[in-house]
Amino acid sequence: MIEIHEVTKTFQDKKIFVTALKHVSFSMKKGEVVGLLGENGAGKTTLLRMIATLLSPTEGQVSVAGYDTIKEPDEIKKRIGVLFGGETGLYDRLTARENLEYFARLYGLSKHETKVRIDDLAKMFGMRDYLNRKVGGFSKGMRQKVAIARAIIHNPDIILFDEPTTGLDITSSNVFRQLVHQLKREGKTIVFSSHIMEEVTMLCDSVAMMHKGELVYQGNLESLYQAEGSRDLNYIFMSKLVRRDDYAS
Ligand SMILES: Nc1ncnc2c1ncn2[C@@H]1O[C@H](COP(=O)(O)OP(=O)(O)O)[C@@H](O)[C@H]1O
Ligand SMILES: [Mg+2]
Repeated sequence: MIEIHEVTKTFQDKKIFVTALKHVSFSMKKGEVVGLLGENGAGKTTLLRMIATLLSPTEGQVSVAGYDTIKEPDEIKKRIGVLFGGETGLYDRLTARENLEYFARLYGLSKHETKVRIDDLAKMFGMRDYLNRKVGGFSKGMRQKVAIARAIIHNPDIILFDEPTTGLDITSSNVFRQLVHQLKREGKTIVFSSHIMEEVTMLCDSVAMMHKGELVYQGNLESLYQAEGSRDLNYIFMSKLVRRDDYAS
C-alpha cells in the first residue's frame, strides 16, 4: 500500500544542510495501523509529508497505492486523508455540518454524496447531536472528531495523522483512539506519528521506530515483543537506541 524506498531528505537552511531522513526503506500493508515512533526531530513529520506528496525526497522513491508521489500526486491525493498536528483547519463560525460540506465540495462530492457521507460519519463518530451547532463552541474532543471527519470526507483508503493526540487532554485522546478503531474496522490503512508508547501499543499492528532520520526498526508489534522478550515498547525502544553506536556519543 505504501512503499518507501531508500529515501533521503536533506533540507538546506541558509548554508546549513540538515539531513532529516537517511536511506529509509519500508512498506506498509493495506488495512494496517502503523505507528511512527520517535523523539522530536526524528523525521516523522518529514516522512508523513512525503507520503502525502507535500514534500519530495532528495533521493529515493515513495509510492502510495501503486502511484509515485512525484509523478502521480493527484492519484494519491484522492486516496489519502491527512491531519497534521494541532491544525484542525475548521471554521469556527460555521456549523460542523457546514464545515464538512465545505470540504466535501473541495473534493468534488455531489450534494447527495455529501449528505450520505456526513450522515455516515456523524453516526460512526457519534456527532449527530451537535452536527448543526457552530464549531466555535466545541470542546477539543468534539473538534477532534469533526477534524478527522473532515480529513476523511472523501472516504480515502489511507489516512495519515501527524501527532494526533499531542496537546490533547485524556478525553480527546480517547476520542482519537476510538475513531482509529472504527476506521480500522472499515479496512482503512492508517499511519500516525506519536511519541506516546502506550498509544502505539494499544492501536497499532506494526511500528516504524525512527531516530535521527534513520529507521531503527520496522515490523509487526507482536513479532517485536517476541524477539525482545518484553511487551514494554518504551523499554524496547530505548534499548534499541542504546545498542546503536551513535546514541551514547
Ligand atoms: N523545512 C525545513 N527546513 C529545515 N530543516 C527542517 C525542515 N523540516 C524539518 N527539518 C529538520 O528535519 C529534522 C526532522 O524534522 P521532523 O520531520 O519535523 O521531525 P519530527 O516530526 O520527528 O519531530 C529536524 O532536524 C528538523 O529541524
Ligand atoms: Mg513532527
